[in-house]
Amino acid sequence: MSTGRTADLWWKNAIVYCLDVETFLDSNGDGIGDFNGLTERVDYLAGLGVTCLWLMPFFPSPNRDDGYDVTDFYGVDERLGSLGDFVVFMRAAKDRGLRVIVDMVVNHTSDRHPWFRSARSSRKSPYRDYYVWRDEPAEQPDAEPVFPDAENSIWSYDERAGQYYLHHFYAHQPDLNFVNPAVREEIAKIAGYWLELGVDGFRVDAVPFLIEMGGTGVTEMDLDPHAMLRDLKAFMTRRRGDALLLGEVNLPHKDLKTFFGGSRGDEIQLLFDFPLMQAMYLALARRDARPLRTSFKRMPDVTDEGQWARFVRNHDELTLDKLTDAQRQEVFDAFGPDGSMQLYGRGLRRRLPPMFDGDEARIRLAYSLLFTLPGTPTLFYGEEIGMGENLDIDGRVSVRTPMQWTDGRNAGFSTARPSRLRRPLVEGRFGPLAVNVAAAERDSDSLLNWMERAIRRRRETPEFGWGEWSLLDTDHNAVFAHRCEWEGRTVLAVHNLSDGPLEVEVDVGGGDGASVQDLLDADGSVQSLERGMLQLTLEGYGHRWLRLQGEDQRPTP
Ligand code: NOJ
Ligand code: CA
Repeated sequence: MSTGRTADLWWKNAIVYCLDVETFLDSNGDGIGDFNGLTERVDYLAGLGVTCLWLMPFFPSPNRDDGYDVTDFYGVDERLGSLGDFVVFMRAAKDRGLRVIVDMVVNHTSDRHPWFRSARSSRKSPYRDYYVWRDEPAEQPDAEPVFPDAENSIWSYDERAGQYYLHHFYAHQPDLNFVNPAVREEIAKIAGYWLELGVDGFRVDAVPFLIEMGGTGVTEMDLDPHAMLRDLKAFMTRRRGDALLLGEVNLPHKDLKTFFGGSRGDEIQLLFDFPLMQAMYLALARRDARPLRTSFKRMPDVTDEGQWARFVRNHDELTLDKLTDAQRQEVFDAFGPDGSMQLYGRGLRRRLPPMFDGDEARIRLAYSLLFTLPGTPTLFYGEEIGMGENLDIDGRVSVRTPMQWTDGRNAGFSTARPSRLRRPLVEGRFGPLAVNVAAAERDSDSLLNWMERAIRRRRETPEFGWGEWSLLDTDHNAVFAHRCEWEGRTVLAVHNLSDGPLEVEVDVGGGDGASVQDLLDADGSVQSLERGMLQLTLEGYGHRWLRLQGEDQRPTP
C-alpha cells in the first residue's frame, strides 16, 4: 500500500464504461454524436462513479463496421469532431479524474486505407507485405469467417492485386500482416501517438486474430506470436509505465493464461472473461448457480498485474459460443426465443432488461454479480439506466442505439430531425419515454441510483478487485457465494439465482466470534456467525455483499 502500488495498477480496481462517441450526445444537431457532446456529459459519467472510459473507434472510417474499419489511425472522423475536440474532451476527463482508453483496431484496416490501396495496386508497393496474400485460397481454410452471414471464406480475390488476401472479419477488412516487422512498428507508433495525447491505454480488438500466423508462411517455430505481444507491451511500458492493454480474447479459460503472459505476466493486463460470462447466463437461465460455480473453479489465477474484465454485455452479439449446443439453446429459450433476437447461431442481440422482462430484482442480481465477481466491472453505456435494444436495426447494431437522456425529442440525444439520427432509438417499454437519465436521476429507487450506490460501494471494496478469491459452500444449488481476501480483510457476496425466497446456510469459514456486516443495506446491519456458518434469508433474486468482521478486520464506513 505504502508504495502506491494500488494506484500504479489502477485497472485492478477500476470501473470501466464503454461508449461510442457517435451515439452518446450530438452537440451540433446533425444527428451524430460528437466529442463536444461527450465533453458536456463528462460530469454525468464522473457522477456515476465510473473511473475509466473506453471509447469505441472514433477514427476516420467508411463505417461499414461501425468504425472497426479504419482508414487513418491518427485522426478523428470528421463527423465526430476534430483532434482539437478530442484533446478538449481528454482535458475534461482528466480534470474529473477519469482515465480514458481507446479501441485499438489493428488486426485489419479498411480496404480504403491508403496502405491497402497501395498494396493492391502493385506487387512492388512498399505496403504489399502489410497484408497477407496468396495465389490460391487454401483448400482447407485454417479458420471460418467471424461473420458467417456475410462471408463464406477468410480469403477473397482482389482483381487489382491479382491475388487472394486474408480477412478474418468482413472482406472489406483486410488483415494486417503482423509478422511483418514494419507493420509491428506502425502499430507501436499508433500506440505511442495516442499515449502522447494522454490516453491511458487501449482495448485491443480481436487479439487472437492479430497474432495468428496462418497464411503468412511464417510458423510459430520461426517466431513466437506471444513474443510479438510482449514487444508491444514493452514498448508501451517504456513510453508510459501504467498504460493498460485490455484484450478481447474470446477463448476457453485454459488458453487465456498465455495472453496474460503466462507466469511472467508481461503481456495483456486485463482480459475479458468470456467463458465465465457465458456460464453466468446459463446459470441465470436455469436459476441454478452450478454452471457459474464450475466456471469459477476453472478460472485461472491472475498474475500480479493481471485482472479479469467482467461484463454483462458488450457492443457485439452476446456470444454464447463456448456453451454446448444444448446449453446455448436453453439460454436462447429463456432470454431470446425468437429467431430475430439471435445472431450467427451463437449469440443474442438483446440487452439485459428486455431479456429479463424488466424484472428489476433479477436485473440487479446480474449487475451485483458483475460488481462482485473477482475482477474489473465493465459497463456498456445505457446499462446504468436499463436501456433496451431495437430489433429493427440489423445485426449486432441493435444494441448500439442513441443514449436516452430525456423523454423529449430524440431522447435528448440530438435536436436533428428524427430521420437524420445516426441510428433509430429504442421503442416501447425500454425506450426513452420510460427509460431515461433525467427521470432516473430524480427517482431514488431507480436502477441508475442503485447502480451509483453499488459502484461507490464496489470502489470502496477493493478486495473484490485485488483479493484472492474462493467459492463458499452452501446448502442450495440456486445460491452462488464467494469470498475475496486482501491484506487481511475479507468480503463475501451471496446471490440467489432463483425467483423464490430461501433460507441458506453459507460456510464462511471465519473463526468463533466473527460476524458479517452488510455493505449495501440501509442500516449496515451486523450478523454473527455460528462456528463459521452464516444463516441468511434471501429474497427471490436477492443478493448480499458482506464484510467479515473479527478482531483483525477493519470496520466499513
Ligand atoms: C471485434 C469488435 O468487437 C467487433 O465489433 C468488430 O466488428 C470486430 N472485432 C472486427 O473489428
Ligand atoms: Ca454532431
